[in-house]
Amino acid sequence: MYTDYINPYAAGKGENTLLKEEKRMEKQLWDSFSPRETFEIGKQIGEQAMRGEVYTLIGDLGVGKTVFTQGVAAGLGIKESVNSPTFTIVQVYEEGRLPFYHFDVYRIGDVEEMEEIGYMDCFYGEGICLIEWANLIEEILPENYKEIRIQKDLEKGFDYRKIELEMISR
Ligand SMILES: Nc1ncnc2c1ncn2[C@@H]1O[C@H](COP(=O)(O)OP(=O)(O)OP(=O)(O)O)[C@@H](O)[C@H]1O
Ligand SMILES: [Mg+2]
Repeated sequence: MYTDYINPYAAGKGENTLLKEEKRMEKQLWDSFSPRETFEIGKQIGEQAMRGEVYTLIGDLGVGKTVFTQGVAAGLGIKESVNSPTFTIVQVYEEGRLPFYHFDVYRIGDVEEMEEIGYMDCFYGEGICLIEWANLIEEILPENYKEIRIQKDLEKGFDYRKIELEMISR
């Protein structure tokens, strides 16, 4: 399922000029019934992603954040395999149509660690950022970003995932 949303960059050149009413339309919702479908949804996002965008990925352990990320990378034209960076907080991929910064901040102790790795250059840079477990570093997220939430619903099957995308301006 794919619903239209308003692009704040096109609508207000990055300024928060949207009305509350309009904001509610800036949501997309997908149903995924397999890892493959989650990958394909991520791939669509990667194909449409624009320079400088930040995506946050929120969801429980093992829900499919990395599967989704692999789709985004494929959509950007990245061929090398993308996995969760276990001992590094960020992994940079340069071979796609835009630089891709894949963060997994699950093991972060303090947001100061983000300073040490120079996150600002990624968040406010020329590429696409995607941050797994972004809720752990909420205080340093930029003013505008796209939040993706992945949730299970066992009533709809073991492999079902609800995937929501919402534009956040704060
Ligand atoms: N619809 C689905 N979408 C995504 N993954 C699914 C789905 N159904 C089953 N899975 C399985 O769920 C697991 C998701 O693993 P993945 O590493 O992507 O999760 P994660 O959210 O990144 O976990 P972590 O929090 O440990 O980083 C995989 O084993 C995948 O095969
Ligand atoms: Mg992961």
